[in-house]
Amino acid sequence: MSNVVITNHPLIQHKLSILRRVETSSKEFRALIREIAMLLCYEATRDLHLKEIEIETPICKTTAKSIEGKKLAIVPILRAGLGMVDGMLELIPSARVGHIGLYRDHETLMPVEYYCKLPADINERDVFVVDPMLATGGSAIDAISQIKLRKPRSIKFVCIISAPEGIEALQKAHPDVEIFCAGMDEKLNEHGYIVPGLGDAGDRIFGTK
Ligand code: PRP
Ligand code: URA
Repeated sequence: MSNVVITNHPLIQHKLSILRRVETSSKEFRALIREIAMLLCYEATRDLHLKEIEIETPICKTTAKSIEGKKLAIVPILRAGLGMVDGMLELIPSARVGHIGLYRDHETLMPVEYYCKLPADINERDVFVVDPMLATGGSAIDAISQIKLRKPRSIKFVCIISAPEGIEALQKAHPDVEIFCAGMDEKLNEHGYIVPGLGDAGDRIFGTK
């Protein structure tokens, strides 16, 4: 699979196992989503460009590296994507945050859009679209299509659990978008849920079921 990074870092894999467990509380679930998002952000920002700058240590003047004035944006897919924003901002605090509201129609599994507010200068930014779950891929494909209308510099998709079906569909629809995820599971069930997965991410983050 080109353009897909599935992290096998032990910290991520350990946290993912706790996240999946049915007995994990909403409080713990939220904390884990935030922590895993932060670790995935570390991977997804690996290619940020650096420039040389002059600095002075207590000992002497020297040259050091600094991230080259990159403009970044994080766009969570509501609701569940919200859970990943703080973890991402922890590492890239000056990123702007846009929001896209989509939910899957439970009958058709098709995404229904209800909100879209993006930074005005998104065309000058590299964008990280975040959502814990990539199932059929419909929501991610739709969100990325909306963002592309505003011509950002680049888009990466960061998720926690994916299904092979979702990865394939997203790669087909948006081959230019690199995908970062903590784990790829076995399959989707007849209701479009990822197996073994973690259930409904939005409900588990917000305690709505
Ligand atoms: C979940 C999840 C993704 C989407 C993935 O959201 O957070 O956005 O499903 O499924 P897909 O790849 O088949 O589109 P959901 O529609 O349950 O909305 P919510 O976040 O508001 O709960
Ligand atoms: N959305 C979720 O929250 N969980 C899944 O398994 C699939 C879609």
